[in-house]
Amino acid sequence: MEKIVLPEIENLHLIDTYVANGGYDTAKSALAKSSDEIIDIVKKSGLRGRGGAAFSTGLKWSFIPKGSGITKYLCINGDESEPGSFKDRQVFEFNPHQLIEGIVITCHAIHAKKAYLYIRGEYHKWIKLMQKALDDAYERGFVGEAMKAKYGTDFSCDIYIHKGAGAYICGEESSLMNSIEGKRGYPRVKPPFPAQVGLWGAPTIINNVETIANIPPIIKKGWEWFSAIGEQKHPGTLLFGVSGHVNKPGVYELPSGTLLTDIIYNYAGGVPGNKKIKCVIPGGSSMPPLRGDQLEGIKMDAESLRAAGSAIGTGGIMVMDEDTDLVKVLARLSKFYYHESCGQCTPCREGTGWMVKLLNRIVRGEGSKSDIDLLVSVASNIEGNTVCALGEAAAWPVRFMITRFRDEFEKQVSDHVKLEVKNKVHSMRATLNPLASVEN
Ligand SMILES: Cc1cc2nc3c(=O)[nH]c(=O)nc-3n(C[C@H](O)[C@H](O)[C@H](O)COP(=O)(O)O)c2cc1C
Ligand code: SF4
Repeated sequence: MEKIVLPEIENLHLIDTYVANGGYDTAKSALAKSSDEIIDIVKKSGLRGRGGAAFSTGLKWSFIPKGSGITKYLCINGDESEPGSFKDRQVFEFNPHQLIEGIVITCHAIHAKKAYLYIRGEYHKWIKLMQKALDDAYERGFVGEAMKAKYGTDFSCDIYIHKGAGAYICGEESSLMNSIEGKRGYPRVKPPFPAQVGLWGAPTIINNVETIANIPPIIKKGWEWFSAIGEQKHPGTLLFGVSGHVNKPGVYELPSGTLLTDIIYNYAGGVPGNKKIKCVIPGGSSMPPLRGDQLEGIKMDAESLRAAGSAIGTGGIMVMDEDTDLVKVLARLSKFYYHESCGQCTPCREGTGWMVKLLNRIVRGEGSKSDIDLLVSVASNIEGNTVCALGEAAAWPVRFMITRFRDEFEKQVSDHVKLEVKNKVHSMRATLNPLASVEN
């Protein structure tokens, strides 16, 4: 995968380079402002979370109880386990100090004295890089007790890196907190929301890595500067991770509202062999897929994608060309969500398994038309009936892939009709009980 160097300054990951370019000056000026002032700037900037739901960051921070008398925590979500999402690791690798500076400013804004940076366990390389950057920041007095002397304030905070253990569900904010507490990564029932009852029962803010990395430039250049970039309702630049059938896969930092086709054809170099695009998932694998013949004019921001029938998610753009077998793609994606379901609630635990079985049967050419409808029905029964949004993450690809590419699925089962003649006994057994004699 081609690497795009995000910062224009070479070696910005090194503390000397970062400091030489004004790094940590913004933290100093932010610490001289009141918490309310910082929250107000972030609110006015229009920054929205980059972890999937695009929720207003300033608004989220304002939910936390005011004052420094109560213990509060900040968690920074770098679990990044969604297939098609690989942008946070670019921040760890190329601009770790901007993230650290953002954490310090956020801790001050919400009066948190401890922050936990949760990094996906498989990211061995990036955990090491991040730890090195953090050690350097501590050594120079930009983090920890020494901050007081360095910045000339009463405030200090500590940052801990917490390594995940390979479970996608631990990226969900409440199971992330359970995981940090040393418990099983089960999502918690909400409400209460983390801003009221979070880590160890204390008010907690959880934000994505990219979200927090946006804080220093917003404070430095002002909310007016940030809110003028890209689309008004979802401003700023976004890190778009482009993968699949493109000539130049990689991460591209571009203003929100950039055309999806511009990203695919101009930045990511188009489709190998100039093939047509059959399908694009625009925000990581759990977001609704779009048809390749309906991409014209679609902008990459939360509102535009919603209007187009999908969602921005984490900005992970997965491109599939005309030769892609979407039934196989869906079977593979569904296997992922089935494997990652924590098993806490029945619709998700059972439904994800049923969907895998039905899809595998269709892939093997043993499915029937009623299996397609049954798949949509199972997906619809998961949605809205679970403790956390992994239910939707598993159900949406199934429901939308079938609704938007039904022809692909019908072709696969109409081929089955021919096979049925040859193999009458086997398929009769399968039709009588849709889930009988089917392997994962
Ligand atoms: C199953 C599941 C996995 C998630 N994984 C991540 C993740 O890896 N990184 C992330 O930032 N958010 C993830 N989220 C979203 C978080 O719960 C939370 O909304 C986010 O970290 C908030 O940060 P933001 O407001 O800055 O976007 C996940 C959500 C679900 C339901
Ligand atoms: S929806 Fe799935 S992953 Fe989420 S709590 Fe329920 S079983 Fe666990």
